[in-house]
Amino acid sequence: MSRPRAVFAGSGVALPPRVVANEALARVMDTSDEWIVERSGIRERRYVEKGVASSDLGAEAARAALADAGMAPDEVDYLVCATMTPDHYFPGAGTLIQQKAGLPPVPALDIRQQCAGYAYGLQMVEALIGSGIARAVLLVGCDVHTSLMPFSEATWAAIEGRRGEPIPETDREWNNRFRHLLVLFGDAAGALVFRASTADDGRGILASRLCGDGAHEGILTVPGAGSARRPWVDAAQIAAGETVPVMEGRQVFKLAVTRMPEVTLALLAAQGFGRDDLDLLVMHQANLRINEAAQKQLGLPDEKVFNNIERYGNTTSATLPLAFHEARAAGRAPEGSLVALTALGAGLHWGAVLMRV
Ligand code: UT7
Repeated sequence: MSRPRAVFAGSGVALPPRVVANEALARVMDTSDEWIVERSGIRERRYVEKGVASSDLGAEAARAALADAGMAPDEVDYLVCATMTPDHYFPGAGTLIQQKAGLPPVPALDIRQQCAGYAYGLQMVEALIGSGIARAVLLVGCDVHTSLMPFSEATWAAIEGRRGEPIPETDREWNNRFRHLLVLFGDAAGALVFRASTADDGRGILASRLCGDGAHEGILTVPGAGSARRPWVDAAQIAAGETVPVMEGRQVFKLAVTRMPEVTLALLAAQGFGRDDLDLLVMHQANLRINEAAQKQLGLPDEKVFNNIERYGNTTSATLPLAFHEARAAGRAPEGSLVALTALGAGLHWGAVLMRV
């Protein structure tokens, strides 16, 4: 019998209602709408309300994906969750989503490859279904970046429009230290559900190519709040800003614009496809300029690329399902189309996945 294929069955997203425009960030740090749009393409992002965790968004996206697929929660027999901002140090968000989305006690796997998490997850889905271990897999990507933002109460109040007067100068200086990072991220979740199929229609996850290289670990990392410290987190780390990610933006940028096109082309070639065979490329949404440069290198026309970073910023594990979901809603990924998804993130992890929708 032929290997079952993991065929896309439905997608869903969770977007917090609070829209935070660039102007709101300019109230609390030395930045501007002009700088953010020019350097990153981002105009606004979504922020959760205090107390909403990654598993809440993940469960909402999971329920939406199941509804889209016309599947009941008890039809899912495996859950994979990609997040770099789990609700707790442990356990991961997988079982929390399983419970909140009303799934039976199925295996719930947490993977954490940061911005490449969803690409890694898609390979897991293919492996689980192709091997016969699972027949219906829900893959959730969810991240609440606001939990990593080192803002004071005054800063939050100014961003959320609860404070009219300027924030204290010391708060502004503190925020400025991280401004290159803080303007880029937003909160969101996305989920896709896949079913096993042996139909002879060519649909399914066709192949994937993943890479990991710890040599670049230091360019994108949270230095504190982990087992490399004893205790794992303390007031001194927080005061020193060590619980906030370190990001060498230019280096990440350079790696992303070379590795994403490289791995996508290698994957296509290994499957006997050329760039012209692709109907759609969905790239991780970290910076519109990265994606424009990658698109140019790949020689793809605008109608074969979908970006939505302008409205959501970088949502880490959620970018690929969120962009795929919206591309599909816009009629850009119809059944039978050949779609490549590619991402690069902290670790360093990167890769590409090819799917016939
Ligand atoms: O998923 C992976 C996650 N991360 C990424 O993919 C990040 C990839 N890198 C990037 O997106 C870009 O490197 C950034 C958007 C982070 C920065 O853009 P850049 O064009 O590389 O700017 P830069 O870091 O070289 O900074 C240029 C200037 C600096 O000022 P000086 O030294 O020229 O006076 C920065 O201090 O812009 C300043 N700057 C800002 N100005 C206004 C940095 N952040 C800001 C800001 N607003 N938010």
